[in-house]
Amino acid sequence: MLSTSSEIGVIGSGAMGLGIAQTASAAGHKVRLYDNNADALLKAKNTLQSGFSKLVEKQKLSEASAKTQFENITFENDLSKFKNCDLIIEAIVENLQVKKSVFQELEKIVSTECVLASNTSSLSITSISSACKKAGRVIGIHFFNPATLMPLVEIIPGLATEKHVIDSSRKLIDGWKKVTVLAKDTPGFIVNRVARPYYSEALRIYEEGIADMASIDHAMKNLGGFKMGPFELMDMIGHDVNYIVTETVWTQFYFDPKFKPSISQKRLLEGGFLGRKSGKGFYEYSKEFTLPPSTADEETSKLIFMRILCMLINEAADTLYLKIAGREDIDLAMTKGVNYPKGLLKWADEIGIEKVVRELNTLKEFYEEDRYRISPILKQMLVSNKRFWG
Ligand SMILES: NC(=O)c1ccc[n+]([C@@H]2O[C@H](COP(=O)([O-])OP(=O)(O)OC[C@H]3O[C@@H](n4cnc5c(N)ncnc54)[C@H](O)[C@@H]3O)[C@@H](O)[C@H]2O)c1
Repeated sequence: MLSTSSEIGVIGSGAMGLGIAQTASAAGHKVRLYDNNADALLKAKNTLQSGFSKLVEKQKLSEASAKTQFENITFENDLSKFKNCDLIIEAIVENLQVKKSVFQELEKIVSTECVLASNTSSLSITSISSACKKAGRVIGIHFFNPATLMPLVEIIPGLATEKHVIDSSRKLIDGWKKVTVLAKDTPGFIVNRVARPYYSEALRIYEEGIADMASIDHAMKNLGGFKMGPFELMDMIGHDVNYIVTETVWTQFYFDPKFKPSISQKRLLEGGFLGRKSGKGFYEYSKEFTLPPSTADEETSKLIFMRILCMLINEAADTLYLKIAGREDIDLAMTKGVNYPKGLLKWADEIGIEKVVRELNTLKEFYEEDRYRISPILKQMLVSNKRFWG
């Protein structure tokens, strides 16, 4: 049974592992952080130390709390130190074989009660768990970047995960001041699936020459209230991460055209134009970068916004239809995991299901592509005059 006094292990001290370790430590746990790369572990220690100093300087944390939280974390280069851990969260390289072998290694060290979790964004939890003798203890606990700040955590049981493991993991993470949602073990879980059209439909509109990138970004921000437009956001996430997630989701869904990646984005990746981190992506970044003004007229901006929004709603609806997650969790996931201004199912109710279906039908009839197929649940709701939120 996991509790506030549980000892937490984190494997991998990169961006996510360090954030997860810090979150667990802030919740009062003793945390062991391991990395098989000594330089990475040292870097994590230094990053954490300077991060705490900054928080103290800015008076966001008292010196005493910073000291306790820092001391709660021990930096380990020997996995045998994890033998008393109650929960271990793995956040290493996104590679199925490597993850499987780490889980097998851990099983030899820990007690039979220790819960083993993966922070994977795109791999199957069931597949990772198949490497374990006790697959029932394996679960997906998926944090968002940066883990210390983003409230959402997706909880993903594999086919074998035992109910008490699901319940106690969720309860524990809720206690870390996070918002947890439950998702079926399917590609992209909730957020990385439902958010795909935000990028792919924007790219399609741009590739067709309907509008330039900045006009699309402005439309989504001004008319939709999104914090960042799709192109700004892809540049911020980095094309090495964003493109790969799209390609992985597409591949894992047996090349479903709904999730097809974009050649324009692939070329950026191939050219090393990774976005903000490399100084150039869709936009070129100088210190004074500001988004160029929109060149689209009002009608085009509205069309862009409705097209992208309806494609997002269609994916959220399909996620509900296919029972990947419940209505509350789908809406929570998008507001707490990627800062959408509203839950997409609530948004659908506001616009009206009829209008959403009409927009999607127009796209479907014009393009005659499977990419624009309408989720059956939207059609059912239209016929029975139902709303997502009653
Ligand atoms: N970066 C994100 O935005 C994000 C968000 C959610 C989930 N994730 C997932 O979290 C995991 C980690 O991602 P990241 O961005 O922190 O990666 P990262 O590259 O920043 O860090 C990975 C760390 O794992 C270490 N490592 C690699 N193989 C190891 C092994 N066999 N044993 C121990 N340590 C090992 C590396 O040395 C590195 O320090 C991945 O599964 C990723 O899909 C990433």
